[in-house]
This record gives sequence, structure tokens and C-alpha cells, in this order.
Amino acid sequence: MRVTIFGSGYVGLVTGACLADAGNHVICVDVDARKIEQLNRGEVPIHEPGLEAIIHRNMKAGRLEFTTDAGKGVAHGVFQLIAVGTPPGEDGSADLKYVLAVAESIGEHLSQYAIIINKSTVPVGTADKVRATVAAAVEKRGVEVQFDVVSNPEFLKEGAAIADFMKPDRVVIGTDNPRTVELMRALYEPFTRNHDRLVVMDVRSSELTKYAANAMLATKISFMNELANIAERVGADIERVRVGIGSDPRIGYSFIYPGTGYGGSCFPKDVQALIRSGQAVQYRTRVLEAVEAVNNEQKSVLVRKLRRHFKDQLQGKKIALWGLAFKPNTDDMRAAPSLVVIEELLAAGAAVQAFDPVAMKEARRVLGDRKGFSLATGAYEALRGADALVIVTEWQEFRSPDFDRIKAELTEPAIFDGRNLYSPDLLKKLGVQYYSVGREPVAR
Ligand SMILES: NC(=O)c1ccc[n+]([C@@H]2O[C@H](COP(=O)([O-])OP(=O)(O)OC[C@H]3O[C@@H](n4cnc5c(N)ncnc54)[C@H](O)[C@@H]3O)[C@@H](O)[C@H]2O)c1
Repeated sequence: MRVTIFGSGYVGLVTGACLADAGNHVICVDVDARKIEQLNRGEVPIHEPGLEAIIHRNMKAGRLEFTTDAGKGVAHGVFQLIAVGTPPGEDGSADLKYVLAVAESIGEHLSQYAIIINKSTVPVGTADKVRATVAAAVEKRGVEVQFDVVSNPEFLKEGAAIADFMKPDRVVIGTDNPRTVELMRALYEPFTRNHDRLVVMDVRSSELTKYAANAMLATKISFMNELANIAERVGADIERVRVGIGSDPRIGYSFIYPGTGYGGSCFPKDVQALIRSGQAVQYRTRVLEAVEAVNNEQKSVLVRKLRRHFKDQLQGKKIALWGLAFKPNTDDMRAAPSLVVIEELLAAGAAVQAFDPVAMKEARRVLGDRKGFSLATGAYEALRGADALVIVTEWQEFRSPDFDRIKAELTEPAIFDGRNLYSPDLLKKLGVQYYSVGREPVAR
């Protein structure tokens, strides 16, 4: 089948690569000429495990192409997928300018039937706006051409995106036109062979489903962080509480890890956008407002512990920081909690020496030459001459480190662990001062 995908970011590239791998002929269109040049040289601009091999294999087979030419893309695909960004606008609502720019391009070039599939995360009502934008651009040309608009939100997780796309839990299809269901079924058939995973519904419910999923996951995280904050104050251990509630199948073990707050390109903006969607219909989303407030405060939890440890004297301190990406197995630093930790430490006059297994290039781009911030060549190099170690991202390689080396490198062995990676008892035995989230009592 002929597929065109607008937007070659985390969602567009993974979708394009996986659809090409199933035998389809895919053209990916992006407005970022540098990114397209890079991709055409075989360089993959993001870190996503397994993605590069699939891209190379399918480029070689002639099934995957990259272009900045929207006209070429529109002429190619029966399926036209929109996978561009929907960043927060000034008021926190989803900014639809990229989505509608794609709709306009499609309308400017469309000459045969296409099914326009929206994979970007968009508020309820966006499919109607896309339909109207395409129709207006088609009408302006004085031509007549049929098209359908379908909502097909994406649920992939960065770091495990290929597996998520190849073996989805579900494929949500929002459509008001039954003829599109068979087309969508055909597109996803290679990925849903062992049982039908299509969940078909009306467009508006589908658009809301994506926000509901992310808001629910964000709520679980903030709930657990709130519990961690109580645990510290009442002398309980949140990790025991976590296992105690996770064993209840109605609750489950996923997304109930306490930590330094959620980040990334989806949860913060999607929770905010849903709050705005509520406001737009005069409904106050009190649960979501609390989820966001708890999360914003939680991003400072480690710095609060550092302040207490150093008796508010962070000026001149050198802090080693492990983990910059917003979660392991990605180089994505959008809204990463590490950024808040770094900014607060720098503002307090501390210097930060950071290391991340894959996000170093991205960190250089995002943080540039910030005074007091530097990148170390390795995890242990980051510790050199530092007064404390702060762990923000739970990369596998940080889980069982050489504690003797950590002790030897730090001027005073103190670890501030935002992911509860280690045993407090073990670190006590090793003579390391250890602070984690929701496990050791704090002074009220
Ligand atoms: N990243 C995730 O894990 C994830 C998961 C599920 C859903 N989503 C949603 O999917 C959408 C895309 O997210 P992403 O992380 O892939 O974004 P991204 O920022 O990584 O990529 C977006 C790409 O779209 C391109 N673009 C912008 N305008 C364009 C245009 N007119 N034509 C062609 N390309 C254009 C940009 O240059 C960029 O390369 C968002 O709505 C996001 O909320 C993301």
C-alpha cells in the first residue's frame, strides 16, 4: 500500500519504518530540510532502540523515502498520516498550527481519494478542523476530490516504540464513516495478526481517549509521589507500600513508581491541554490541576533534600548528575525533570557535572554553554571531585554501580537518588549517606 507520513519525529519515523517493514511503500515528509538530508544519508536523528536497522533495511529495499516535497507526498499515498508536533500554546492548550498546515498542504495537492489519518495528539474537534481546512484548500483550486478524516491516536512509548508499534495493545480508530474501517484494518493487519486489536469508535471519543490515557498515567504518578511525601513524614517506606498496592490487580504495578516527577514530550503538555479543554467548556478539572501541581513540586524534591543535607549552602558545591533524558532508552529531554534539577542547582550557585548514556548530544544542544554546567565523558568521570551524586534517570547501567569507586571519587559520599535504585541498608553499611524518595524520614 502507498503511505505518506507528515512529520519525521519520534512518532512519524517509527510509524514510517514499521509500515515500510511490513511491505508498504512509505514516503515521509518533513519541513525540516536538515533532518531530511540527514535521513537521506542514512543518519537517524533520534535515539530509539532498533529504529536505525529498520530504517536502513527499508531504504535499501526502496520502500522508505524521505522528502521535504509535500506535493510528492500527497501524490503518493492513499493513506496520508499526520504525525507532527502539537506543542502547548501560550495558554497550555494544544497548538494546532502544524497539524492544520499539513491539512492545508494536503488540500493544495490532493487529486485522488485519500484517507487522512491523524496520529498527532489533538483535542476533541480537531478532525472537524482538519476536514474543513482540507476542503477549503481543495475548493480554492476549483476541483472535486473525495477524502475521509480519521482519528488514530498513537500510544507508543519512547524507548520501546518499535515493539509497541509492531505488537500494539490496541489500535484506536475514530471514524464516522464505516468505509474507512476496512482501509484501517488493512493498514494494521500485519501488526494485529494473532487477534483483532482494533477498537473502533466515533472520532470525538477517539480524540479524547488519547488524553484520557496519558492523564490517567500521569495521575498514577502524581498520586504515588504524594503518597511518597506522606511516607517520609510518617516513617513509612513507599517501596513497601508500592508492592503492597501493586499486587492488587485492580491497581497493578505499572506507573506507581515514586520519583522526581513525570516529564517528556507528552504527559506535561497533554495534562495541560486537557485542563484547557475542560475550561473551554466551563468545566474545572480539579483532579488534573492537582496532578500537575504535585508534579511541578516533585521535580524539586531532590534539590530540597540537597539543601537540607548541605544546610542551605549549595554555593560553590560541585554536584555529579546521572541521567538527563526524561526516561531511560531515549535521548529525549523535552520537559525532563533533569532540567529543573540543573536549573535549581545552578541558581543556588552549585556546579553540575552530568552524564547520560545517550542524551549527551541533546544536552549540549539544550543546555549549550550554561555557566556552571558541564558534561563528563563517563558516569564515574562525572563524580570527579564532586560533593554529591544526584540520580535523575533510571538507566540500567546506574542500577548496580561500583559503590567503592563512587565513594572514592566523591569528596563526601552522599547519593540523592530520585528513582529509588538502591537498598538504603546496603548503602548505610557501605558508609554512604543515602537519600531517596519516600523511604527515609524527613524532619517536618
Ligand atoms: N513522542 C511520543 O512518545 C509520542 C507518543 C504518542 C503520541 N505523540 C504525539 O505525536 C505527535 C508527534 O510527536 P513527536 O514526538 O513525534 O514530535 P516531534 O517533535 O519529534 O516531530 C514532529 C515533526 O514534525 C515536523 N513538522 C512540523 N510541521 C510539519 C509540516 N507542516 N509538514 C511536515 N512535517 C512537519 C517537525 O519538523 C518534526 O520533525 C504529537 O502530537 C505528540 O503528542 C507522541
